[in-house]
Amino acid sequence: MKKYKIAAIAGDGIGPEVVGEGLKMMRHIAELDGTFSFEITEFPWGCDYYLETGRMMPEDGIKTLSGFDAIFLGAVGRPDVPDHISLWDLLLRIRKSFDQYVNLRPVKLLKGAPCPLKDVKRGDIDMLFVRENSEGEYAGSGSWLFKGKPNEVVIQDGVFSRVGCERVIRYAFELARKYGKKLTSISKGNALNYSMVFWDQIFNEIKEEYPDVQTESLLVDAASMFMVRQPERFQVVVTSNLFGDILTDLGAAISGGMGLAAGANINPERKYPSMFEPIHGSAPDIAGKNIANPLATFWSVSQMMDHLGYEEWGKLIIDVIEELLSERGMLTPDLGGSATTTEVGKAALEKLDQKFLSKR
Ligand code: NAD
Ligand code: IPM
Ligand code: MN
Repeated sequence: MKKYKIAAIAGDGIGPEVVGEGLKMMRHIAELDGTFSFEITEFPWGCDYYLETGRMMPEDGIKTLSGFDAIFLGAVGRPDVPDHISLWDLLLRIRKSFDQYVNLRPVKLLKGAPCPLKDVKRGDIDMLFVRENSEGEYAGSGSWLFKGKPNEVVIQDGVFSRVGCERVIRYAFELARKYGKKLTSISKGNALNYSMVFWDQIFNEIKEEYPDVQTESLLVDAASMFMVRQPERFQVVVTSNLFGDILTDLGAAISGGMGLAAGANINPERKYPSMFEPIHGSAPDIAGKNIANPLATFWSVSQMMDHLGYEEWGKLIIDVIEELLSERGMLTPDLGGSATTTEVGKAALEKLDQKFLSKR
């Protein structure tokens, strides 16, 4: 029987609550399927670990994780630990160390999901963001001069390498070709006269290799406006690290909220493990109350199943989420319901059972 080694890092705030339900789902799927199993190792890394040890993860944490087939992460961040430390020493360290240069974030209005936009047909919001995930504005390069002095200066570099831009743009073109979809590139060449001019140039170069793919290039300010006014304009989207971060929270807002937005950090060459996580944070405002929405986490489990080659399971999880959304009886407060995280998790497993059994 095929065995997958999964590293689970629940992290902080609502992380353990949603990851707990996600792990139950993974174990349940393996049991139902019977042809593979998950060997899950949970790591207690995060802000509590930092306050005890002075580190977000052990020194050899990356080496430890490299032996796994995939990483499943909740959220990182706690109000009493500086965010740039907690995120740089755990989440961003994993994304960078494992060259997870593609961040795949679906922005799709699932059946039953609420939408704040007027006159939008369900099928109009169906995008797949390919966010550059290894460099750009998140390169971590810069300097802090004359700290604390009146002439203090900080410099934060955006680093856009040819290899880095080409590989993520080419990945997006391949996806667009595979699904027969349009590809939109989002940049800001009018103001960022080095990085984004370069991005646009590389996009145009690679476009020549894909004459069958319809394309559009938009400036990020206009793109934000069109995501709200004409969401049907977007299908596959490729953009830089920071723009992708911001636009996918906007995407979450128009497709059901943060409790429904999932993401996969992919190392396409499969040289290193990929990482699956909801895109929301640790939500300190609702942590510990058992009311966090686990549906985003379930969606990232679905992405993990796809990545491991079990697309049927990936699809079945999406069907379960859509049914829960459409029936409305078992939803957390962010979606207008009164169910707890655990209750939604339990309902999801029951639905998985029903759907799986009815397929046999
Ligand atoms: P957030 O995503 O944690 O919360 C924003 C809002 O959305 C809050 O009102 C929260 O209650 C709500 N929300 C988020 N997830 C929800 C869910 N599953 N169910 C119901 N409501 C949900 O963003 P923030 O408040 O800006 O950040 C909080 C902390 O998380 C910070 O430390 C930040 O750095 C960190 N963060 C971590 C990640 C990550 O680990 N991937 C992502 C974003 C933010
Ligand atoms: C996300 C988060 C992270 C990011 C933060 C917490 C570093 O906002 O995954 O969207 O900006 O990538
Ligand atoms: Mn974000």
